[in-house]
Order: sequence, then structure tokens, then C-alpha cells
Amino acid sequence: MEKEISQAVIRRMPRYYRYLGELLDDGVERISSNELSALMKVTASQLRQDLNNFGGFGQQGYGYNVRHLYDEIGKILGLNRQHNIIVIGAGNLGQALANYVKFEKRGFIINGLFDINPALKGVTVRGIDIRMLEDLPEFVKNHKVDIAALTVPKENAMEVANKVVELGIHAIWNFAHLDLELPDYVVVENVHLSDSLMQLSYNIVKHEQEMKWEYALSHPNNQNKPGFFRELKGREGSAFNS
Ligand code: NAI
Repeated sequence: MEKEISQAVIRRMPRYYRYLGELLDDGVERISSNELSALMKVTASQLRQDLNNFGGFGQQGYGYNVRHLYDEIGKILGLNRQHNIIVIGAGNLGQALANYVKFEKRGFIINGLFDINPALKGVTVRGIDIRMLEDLPEFVKNHKVDIAALTVPKENAMEVANKVVELGIHAIWNFAHLDLELPDYVVVENVHLSDSLMQLSYNIVKHEQEMKWEYALSHPNNQNKPGFFRELKGREGSAFNS
């Protein structure tokens, strides 16, 4: 039986892939494990462990061949083939996705945009026609569709998801803030930009606390003064104001 790779490892792979792509763009052909891990801000042992999940790729005394590693990680991530995507919900987010050209560089081709708003019928975004949702069955018959991106309001997301699954699309890139309940054979990737923002917010608070304590520790004589910590709060901008 194949070894199950942890999701944490899988989540780090796109980052490795991105960095390796940049190295290739810069003409780097070979890199040591230490250099690569420093660049990617992981420990050399973490990098080795991650890549060992897939059989290694490094050579003792040589390091990594950048092109080979890039191609192999690409294969692991399924990037060695084209994925056709339709976007359902051609509002702000749907149009922004369709406008982003770099997905294509990675083999993700947006070939259809769908909505229910008749005012959007026939509007094109980067050359892609916005079609009405009722035309989806016909479209799917005539075009290969691998992934449906859902950028519809939360209230309509489940219904739209059921529809695309019925039409034989079994991968969903879900932006609606709703946990879709779908059969196991459907792969769903939920995207929540707000989770990332909350993570950022947490790190801001943590950083501010650390700065505050660093300041307090570097001014030990002042700490006994009445009101020092209150004063600290008002000092040196927002970092101390939490
Ligand atoms: P929007 O209102 O600009 O666009 C929604 C579009 O969906 C509209 O054009 C509407 O006509 C269409 N629509 C509604 N029901 C439909 C259906 N049954 N079939 C096809 N199209 C339908 O909204 P926006 O800002 O683009 O957001 C779209 C969704 O993405 C919302 O659910 C929002 O909460 C979510 N969102 C998620 C983010 C994330 O990080 N996951 C970030 C931003 C928005």
C-alpha cells in the first residue's frame, strides 16, 4: 500500500515548487540542500524529510538538480498536465480569478465563466464569455472541465455544487464560506482569505507583545517607576498600544 503523505507536507510543496521555479528563472541548475533550505526558510532536515516522502531526489555531495526537483514536485502536485476550470459566479471574485493570468503558467486554464445574472450575459472577461448557468450542461458536454470554482453567495453554493457534481465535475475550488456536504469521491479545496488575515492579525498581536516586553526588559531601571507600563502603552506608536 502507498504511504499516506501528511497534508502538512503537501501544503509545503507548492512553496517549494514556487521557489524552485524562481531559481530556474534565474538560471540556477544545482543547489545544495543547505542553500535550498535557507532560501525556503525551513531546516535542511525538514526539507530532506519532506522530499524523502516522495523518494528523495537529492544526491550526496551534489545537492539537488533544480530542474529535476522542480519537475518531480510538479508531477507530485499534478502540474504536469492541464486542468480546465470553470468559474461559477462571475461577480467581483469570479472576475478577479478570471483576470489572473498566472494560473495559466501552472496549467490551470479558465475556460468558462457562469452566472445567473442576465445583465452579465455576453460580457467577456479577458476574452472569456460569461454564460448563463442554464447553459452549463451543454458546455460540459462539449468542453473538458476538471475543476469548478465556486464564487457564488454562500446561500447558493450547495445547490450549485450539487449541480456541478451531477454533471460529472468532481473537483471543487470553493470560495463560499460554507462547508459543502458532498460525496467522498468529490475533492474540495476550501479557500478562506479571511483565515489568512486572522493569522496575520494573530502574528501582529504576538509581535507587538514581544516588542513591548523587549522594550521593558531593555529599560529595567524604569520599570519600578509608577505608571511605567501605562506610559509604555502610549509610547512609540501602535506597537505599544495594544
Ligand atoms: P458578488 O456578489 O460580486 O458575485 C457573486 C456572483 O454570483 C454574482 O454575479 C451573482 O449573480 C452570482 N450568482 C448568484 N447565485 C448564482 C448561482 N446560483 N449560479 C451562478 N451564479 C450565481 O460577490 P463576490 O464578492 O464576488 O463574492 C462571491 C463569493 O465569494 C461570496 O460567497 C463571498 O462570500 C465569497 N468570498 C470568499 C472569499 C474567500 O476568501 N473565500 C473572499 C471574497 C469573497
